[in-house]
Amino acid sequence: MDVERIRRDFPILARTSHGKPMAYLDSAATSQKPSVVLDAEREFYERLNANVHRGVYQLSEEATDAFEKSREHVAQFLGGSDSSEVVFLRGTTEAINLVATSFSRGILDKGDQVVSTIMEHHSNIIPWHFLRAYPGITLDFVDVDGEGRLLLADYDRLLSRKTKVVTLTHVSNVLGTVNPVLEIAEKAHDVGALVVLDAAQSAPHLRLDVKKLGIDLLAFSGHKALGPTGIGVLWGRKELLERMPPATGGGEMIREVHTDRVSYREPPARFEAGTPNAGGAYALSRALTYLETIGFDEIQSHSRSLLRHSLSKAKELFGERLTVFGPSSVNDHEAVISFRLKGMHPHDIASLLDAEGIAIRSGHHCAQPLMERLGVPALSRASPYLYNTVEEMDRLWAALAKADAFFSRGGVPGIPSPQAAASAGTAHPGL
Ligand code: ALA
Repeated sequence: MDVERIRRDFPILARTSHGKPMAYLDSAATSQKPSVVLDAEREFYERLNANVHRGVYQLSEEATDAFEKSREHVAQFLGGSDSSEVVFLRGTTEAINLVATSFSRGILDKGDQVVSTIMEHHSNIIPWHFLRAYPGITLDFVDVDGEGRLLLADYDRLLSRKTKVVTLTHVSNVLGTVNPVLEIAEKAHDVGALVVLDAAQSAPHLRLDVKKLGIDLLAFSGHKALGPTGIGVLWGRKELLERMPPATGGGEMIREVHTDRVSYREPPARFEAGTPNAGGAYALSRALTYLETIGFDEIQSHSRSLLRHSLSKAKELFGERLTVFGPSSVNDHEAVISFRLKGMHPHDIASLLDAEGIAIRSGHHCAQPLMERLGVPALSRASPYLYNTVEEMDRLWAALAKADAFFSRGGVPGIPSPQAAASAGTAHPGL
């Protein structure tokens, strides 16, 4: 894979940060966008913009056609065969909320159990928490082992005929763990439970195939996979979507509305109340084409080589003082490198790296139950993607070594002290 050529497709990567070349290592939070995606947004609004499914005039028909072609593309991207299984929403968060709300209106009953995992992002915990109050579900979490892999014996212990939903992430946004989804789905189906997959972190990195994963519903966000913000996908098996009540009411999701009754359209329209983000869907399709053209084998092999290189470099520089969380084998660790360096707070690390032009995330990563389980208040996280280079990873560890020296020896010229950062209000954002 020619990373230098790929970098030229991403205009933002040419900018500086604090006067230094910017090393953007926060792609698990959001990816950068190639020019073809920026062009697609512009093209939609310059040439195709009209409300979809609502007009009989040419422009609206062309907009509708572009929107529906994007839906077909997403279905193929996910290994599905039917575009009516693809619902366009704002992102993973909205998709999982939709599923939980819909399930509370006819699929789940008081006393039913939802099994999740301790490594979930809040967007796959809170929508299910809501259901504890109504309809009165119980919610249990599968634990992890010392390397951040799901404890399958714990999963087996939790599963029973009471389990109606198993909901889990494909790739952890903190640990990078790639979960054994098919095995988990088969066990869930054996007890009659439905399987919901949060693919927010896997869609950008792994070739997805809903049939091979054996799941019932899947959610992902466009913005982490080179697409625009505000567009995401819920995929669901057709027969299941047809059984699911709508979660949001409004225009275009109905068959008939009367003052005393209402009936709903078939999926996906039933779940797309209001004007959809057709321009976003159009640009998302362009982003997926970009990823498919490079190929997921190439993308994955690049991330593995960055990870392998980083882990050995970090070990060489910091030894036992640096802990990297998640599986030690790069074969089941994707997308993120979350770490702690003894003696430094993760937010200080992020601020000091920022001064060097290096963008990483620090904090609880919207995964507080996991932080509690790991016994840490926060972690630093670097999340490289297809446009990052080995040199950028080296800059990360070199800047961390410099920050470490600053903390242990009382200061490095040109880097604000922790006290200065605190008084500027930039210390520990988000906690
Ligand atoms: N879910 C995104 C992350 O993990 C925002 O950073």
